Amino acid sequence: MRYRFTDNFWFGCAESATQTEGFCAAGGKTPSNWDHAFKISPHRFFNQTGPEETRGFWQNYREDIQLMRETGINSYRTSLSWARLMPDGYHLDEAAAARYRDIILCLKEAGIEPIITLMHFDLPFLMQQKGGWLSAQVIDAFVRYAETCFDQFGDLVSHWITFNEPIVPVEGGYLYDFHYPFKRDFASAARAAFNTQLAHARAVNLFHERRYAGKIGIVLNLTPSYPRSEHPADVYAAEVADLFFNKSFLEPSLNGRYPEKLIALLKHYDQLPVVSEDDLQIIAHARVDMLGVNYYHPRRVQARQTAINPASPFMPDWFFDAYEMPGRIMNTSRGWEIYPQGIYDILTDLRLNYGNIPVFISENGMGVENEERWIEAGQVNDAYRIDFIRQHLIAVHQAINEGSHCFGYHCWTFIDNWSWLNGYKNRYGLYRLDLKNMQRTPKASAQWYAALIKNNGLN
Ligand code: BG6
Repeated sequence: MRYRFTDNFWFGCAESATQTEGFCAAGGKTPSNWDHAFKISPHRFFNQTGPEETRGFWQNYREDIQLMRETGINSYRTSLSWARLMPDGYHLDEAAAARYRDIILCLKEAGIEPIITLMHFDLPFLMQQKGGWLSAQVIDAFVRYAETCFDQFGDLVSHWITFNEPIVPVEGGYLYDFHYPFKRDFASAARAAFNTQLAHARAVNLFHERRYAGKIGIVLNLTPSYPRSEHPADVYAAEVADLFFNKSFLEPSLNGRYPEKLIALLKHYDQLPVVSEDDLQIIAHARVDMLGVNYYHPRRVQARQTAINPASPFMPDWFFDAYEMPGRIMNTSRGWEIYPQGIYDILTDLRLNYGNIPVFISENGMGVENEERWIEAGQVNDAYRIDFIRQHLIAVHQAINEGSHCFGYHCWTFIDNWSWLNGYKNRYGLYRLDLKNMQRTPKASAQWYAALIKNNGLN
């Protein structure tokens, strides 16, 4: 075996509540911001397919977990839905808690380590109405929700994640208009980012102070910024993109403080939110036990080609333009570059500059359109996905060989799922979901992944 991993290496998959559960209106669940967004703007969703139309994990979890067991995965990350567990945002729904307990137990019985995320994009709409991540009240409510989850499931769960990709609802909701509440306003984005970090920090501090068993961390989507050239203007463009999109959450999560260069830049443009010293101290004290990294693609940038209109709304894009590198390899379905070296660069950066924190690749995968074109004898022959995962795993292996504390790899996703605004356009699963009858069929990648896990490595 040329690329062997350690015996306890996590080989698993990741998914999320909203993207798998369905039954949005069943039981006592109240709408999340996604249910509401679909209600008011169905045209924003691919083929007008909304969050109700998922594969029904809320009911089919036993069967799906059996397939995971057969594939041999040893760990699985999914999230809890706050709006389902605590429909009014504050009080537990006993039936929902019992069902989540059963899902977690079922995973454990199958020998699959559950990694539970508290917030994967789906804020209860009632909390959104209270101001969402702009409101201090919502931070308090989130901490109470986190505490309830630790109390309810702490005897079963040893690995907790506060937020999945906290920057995405900030960018989507307040900068680029693709998540509810569909705004473009940097001041709100900065406030929402800070409040999210504070909510994360308070949950982490509570977890440690109350001495709950297990570990807690955060999942960040890191997109390393690569400059077009070594010209100082291009290098500066990449540095600023990195400050906005990576270091804005990475530095406070791992080092307990915001990058000085980001603070100076925001101050210069009069965009720095006013925050209290007490809140900064809370963030400073919150040290995560582990980090999850979601990696899909790099960010290539160049110095801006046009002058900024100073009267236009302040945006991170004032400092760089996207760069289309000639010869880049693309996943054209998603419009994302395929660059396995990026995962190595992230792990190496974490090793050299962030104390080599224990880290796992919490999402990596490839969403492809019209996968039916690859069906042979009833099975999707997704050689491109196998190649994608293999190349990224080799890069992970190289980083580990050089000393990275990477302890796992999770593929996004196990079964094709509903992808926010893209519905079922791009399929990510190791299993194909037939939308006509909801049947699950292993793709070639599922068998390949099973062999990889069995051999604990690849040639
Ligand atoms: C990550 C998210 O950003 O990427 C997932 O954590 C998401 O929830 C995945 O589904 C793939 O992105 P998309 O937009 O193609 O679904």
